[in-house]
Amino acid sequence: MAVVVEKLKINYKTLEEFKKFKEYGIQELSMLEDLQANIIENDSESPFYGVYFGDTLVARMSLYQREARFDQYFSPAQDFLELWKLEVLPNYQHNGYGKFLVEFAKGFGLPIKTNPRVKSQGFWDKMGFSAVTYDMERDLGENPLIWLPEGVSEQVSND
Ligand code: COA
Repeated sequence: MAVVVEKLKINYKTLEEFKKFKEYGIQELSMLEDLQANIIENDSESPFYGVYFGDTLVARMSLYQREARFDQYFSPAQDFLELWKLEVLPNYQHNGYGKFLVEFAKGFGLPIKTNPRVKSQGFWDKMGFSAVTYDMERDLGENPLIWLPEGVSEQVSND
């Protein structure tokens, strides 16, 4: 069966599917509240992309394009993608879904920053992501990983 990445709309069905994911939290709850309070409409755009197996959402990630003025990671400074909440449901792991979503993100041709969960380091290595040189002012409690498209390098702080 062909694997297709879909941009997920915010609706009750999607939010119900999200409950199966471990990283369900404040972001999902706030989307639900906004929907219930009619602050956002049914089928509004969300930053999530997902892969369905039949009717089941089996993998998802959040992807958000940040503007160049917020870029502290890449050289030359430019628009980049923040990727978070990449997760594949346990029964569907190691079938290439995670890789497929990351490849999809790379397809935008922009540098990518992510904050991996502990234990997934091996996966990110395979996807060609590497740790940034830690900068306390910028990174604080984070250990960001980045992926660089051709012609882009890591921004090096001057101090
Ligand atoms: N450590 C090392 N390599 C890993 C890995 C891991 N935890 N997870 C996947 N890989 C490797 C695969 O073996 C595969 O290698 P190959 O291309 O040489 O065959 C490659 O990365 C792509 O794997 P894929 O099948 O796309 O991974 P996935 O669909 O299972 O997605 C995660 C990877 C981490 C996003 C997914 O497993 C997940 O959501 N896990 C939940 C929690 C978590 O972080 N677990 C980590 C292990 S405890």
